[in-house]
Amino acid sequence: MSRKPIIAGNWKMYKTISEARDFARALAIAVRNVMGLEVVLCPPFTTLFALREELAGTAVQLGGQNCYFYDEGAFTGEVSPRMLRDAGCTYVVLGHSERRQHFAETDGSVNKKVHAALAHGLTPIICVGEKAEEREVQLTDNVVIVQVQRALLNLEPLAASQVCFAYEPIWAIGTGKTCDSREANRVCAIIRETMTRQVGPGAADDVRILYGGSVKPDTIAGKMAQPHIDGALVGGASLDPHSFAQIVEFNSVLKKS
Ligand code: PGA
Repeated sequence: MSRKPIIAGNWKMYKTISEARDFARALAIAVRNVMGLEVVLCPPFTTLFALREELAGTAVQLGGQNCYFYDEGAFTGEVSPRMLRDAGCTYVVLGHSERRQHFAETDGSVNKKVHAALAHGLTPIICVGEKAEEREVQLTDNVVIVQVQRALLNLEPLAASQVCFAYEPIWAIGTGKTCDSREANRVCAIIRETMTRQVGPGAADDVRILYGGSVKPDTIAGKMAQPHIDGALVGGASLDPHSFAQIVEFNSVLKKS
């Protein structure tokens, strides 16, 4: 079973349109020879159109950082999966801990969004992970298992095999404290086991599981060497085209070190 690795950048609420254009021009040159993995940028909605223009003809794909679960309607401030497709997205990040913490995202709304995203041909990158205080009292595995189970509720195995997960321990996000690679792999294996129990081994074997949390050019290779880690969701280090390109080229970073 071979799972194509994914390196996804999560820009969060950073970059104007002109900053995004500059980034895209630099990234397009830096990653022009990269093969064998998917590169995805998840920028603010306002920059999607410009990035689609700048990245046309490159292998870099686009993703939203969130979406709503209806196609259209009186939902002021929301963006639908259909609109993300229309803007050129193939991916959407769902259930990021910042959305759970600041915008009342719940496992229930994540599940609805997963269904809606898949119905529109978007690949959801479903974020799960524990808080520092949950890890301290050995609740990591329970927290992650419940988040995975609830995200996948009522999905058929074929549909479930289309999703990606991102294991993002909350204490490692934006803190510079990356999770030990073997420990990250252990939790990613638990995500896969949970999927196996819920939707069967076929779907679970196909699903790509990313690690996220202070991924940097010098820590990516250790993560990617783990059998259950199939990629990375990169926040801070995705804002600079050169550090993001170094992460995308993790194999060469590995060879150099
Ligand atoms: P970070 O963010 O790489 O800045 O820790 C990761 C994320 O929030 O997805």
